[in-house]
This record gives sequence, C-alpha cells and structure tokens, in this order.
Amino acid sequence: MNLILLGAPGAGKGTQAEKISEEKHIPQISTGNILRAAVKNGTECGLQAKSYMDRGDLVPDEVVIGILKDRIAEEDCRNGYILDGFPRTVPQAEALENMGVQIDKVLEISVDDEIIKTRLSGRRVCESCGASYHVEFNPTKEEGKCDKCGGNVVQRKDDAPETVIERLSTYHKATAPLIDFYKSRGKLSTVVGQENVAGTYKLVLEALEA
Ligand code: AP5
Repeated sequence: MNLILLGAPGAGKGTQAEKISEEKHIPQISTGNILRAAVKNGTECGLQAKSYMDRGDLVPDEVVIGILKDRIAEEDCRNGYILDGFPRTVPQAEALENMGVQIDKVLEISVDDEIIKTRLSGRRVCESCGASYHVEFNPTKEEGKCDKCGGNVVQRKDDAPETVIERLSTYHKATAPLIDFYKSRGKLSTVVGQENVAGTYKLVLEALEA
C-alpha cells in the first residue's frame, strides 16, 4: 500500500502515520524528519533547507523531490510506504506521478486552525527518532525521554507561535490545492481529526478499509 497523509501542520499526520506504520508494517516517510536530520548533521541539503524551515516556509521543490526519490528507492519501501508531509505542492504531486509511483489512497486529516495552535504549542518531539508527543494529550511515560528509543524529547523551533501562523498560511496557499488535485483522481478520503489520538485512529482505519 502506498499512502499519502495530507493535512495542515499539527493535524496529526506524524502521530497517525506512526500507528499505521506499526499496524501495516510499512515505513513512515516524513520529509520533515529527513530534513531536520539533515540540518542536525550539517549536510549540504540541511544547510539549504534550514532558513526556509526556521521561517515556516516550504523548502524548494527540487530539494525535497530529490530527497523523496532517493528514500522511496530504498529496500524497506518495496511493499509500500506512508508519505507524511509529501507532496506539499502541486509540482511535488506531479513529480510523484512522473516517477511512476502508484498511490492507493490519500488521507486528508482535517483539523481547525485554532485546535492546531493548541496542539503545536504543547508538542514535543524526540531528537533521535522523531517520535511526536504532546505534554497534555499524548505525554511520554518518563518526562523528557522518548518512549520508543529513550532519546531526548524537546520542543521544535518552528513550533513558536509566530512561525506556526506562517506555516498555517503556507499550508492554505500551497498545500490545500492538493485536496482538489487528489479528489479529481478519485483517491481522496477525508477524516476529521479532532477526536483524541485513539478516536482519530479508529476513523483513519475505517477510511483505509473503505
Ligand atoms: P513537517 O515536519 O512535515 O511539519 P508539518 O507538516 O508542519 O507537520 P507537523 O509535523 O507540524 O504536524 P503533524 O501533522 O505531523 O502533527 P503531529 O502528529 O506531530 O515539516 C516541517 C518543515 O519542513 C516545513 O515547514 C517545511 O519547511 C519543511 N518540509 C517538510 N516537508 C516538505 C515538503 N514536502 N516540501 C517542502 N518543505 C517541506 O501532531 C501535532 C501535535 O498534536 C503533537 O503534539 C501530537 O501529540 C498532538 N496530537 C496529534 N493528534 C492529536 C489528537 N487527535 N488529539 C490531540 N492531540 C493530538
């Protein structure tokens, strides 16, 4: 199964992708996590991406398309994958089609902007494996330590309130047009992601099986 998770920043794409990945045994591919690792490691791609990410803007299409192309060619993607945060523009979606990738389903997770602001202000992420938590809605078992790998759990720099407003604006301008793009191809299912994590996951599974 090749699946795309579409939705605004903080809609819960990463949280739901992790759960689907565990259940379906296919990898979660988060372009955000790949870019953050590149920034941390100081690679050329990371240096190019950093200023865009810090401002809440999208990294240029050609950079992200190259990253994605390399990642889906890896061995663990042979039986499918979950794209979390890609595509984010119409040219990225077209590039995926031009690579000959067959997408089975595009799942849009829809959440109001005001709820998103609350979620992102309380989000914490693992510096090592990228797992996502929330201080109130999805806390770690031990404060500051990742449940999965024991890494340090920190706040993301782009979760600062002014950057979140910029990211939401970028989403509405550049990424929301993908809803119609995939609707016109008969691939889109929409889940309202405003239940708690478990409740939303139930809706996600129903949409995947529909
Ligand atoms: P990226 O890392 O992809 O960030 P994003 O899309 O902005 O998405 P988030 O990770 O913020 O949110 P999410 O939907 O995964 O929510 P989560 O599950 O964590 O990208 C970062 C940057 O990289 C971009 O701004 C851009 O610069 C660049 N980039 C990445 N991909 C790119 C691309 N393709 N093209 C160009 N640039 C690209 O949940 C959020 C919080 O809410 C968590 O705390 C979670 O615990 C909590 N939560 C989740 N679900 C629920 C629920 N149901 N109820 C209560 N709380 C919940």
